[in-house]
Amino acid sequence: MLVQIPRVLTAEQIQFVRTRLDAADAPWVDGRATAGHQGARVKHNQQIAESSPLAAELGDLILAALERHPLFISAVLPLRVYPPLFNRYDGGMQFGSHVDGSVRLLPGSGHKIRTDVSATLFLAAAESYDGGELLIEDTYGAHAVKLGAGDMVVYPASSLHRVAPVTRGTRVASFFWVQSMVRDDAQRTLLYDLDRSIQALNQQHAAHPALVELTGVYHNLLRMWADI
Ligand code: NI
Repeated sequence: MLVQIPRVLTAEQIQFVRTRLDAADAPWVDGRATAGHQGARVKHNQQIAESSPLAAELGDLILAALERHPLFISAVLPLRVYPPLFNRYDGGMQFGSHVDGSVRLLPGSGHKIRTDVSATLFLAAAESYDGGELLIEDTYGAHAVKLGAGDMVVYPASSLHRVAPVTRGTRVASFFWVQSMVRDDAQRTLLYDLDRSIQALNQQHAAHPALVELTGVYHNLLRMWADI
């Protein structure tokens, strides 16, 4: 399931994050630093050094915003979130077709995270650069995703995906992974659809007794499928 999550960050937050990332002393390094063997061959971009204080500071700002975002919680059912990373593409840079690594070590903890969901949070206005679409393949074909600054897309980490070459301007984004309470994408999709239906009914028929039963079904499915 591919879900767009609008307005994760406000315009003021975007401006703050971009000022820090665009500063002359921001620690940009070759993006292959965090790529696996296969990914390194097709990855051509830059990243903020993973262990830098800047990545931690800006990553915390994003995590705090996500904690309060009902659509993110409903679509992803997060158990653990990898600290957000930051990348940029310009001058024809691209990231060829790849699948994200399935298990990653959480920095500084010794714990591992299973990457069920991949997330990209766009940090540049879509009209400020050409190319740079995130192309995600599923059984219906390839989906091109290019969102406004502050908007995010989440998709199954098992998907083959790539970033098209950036031919004008600079694409800046944050990206990270989530281990979901529900590892199976089809089960997560059912829970998301059910939750959306319940929310819609709540808006129009909040007193209907069947809502209590539907909410019970939601929680009992989550109880059955949660892997925590
Ligand atoms: Ni990727």
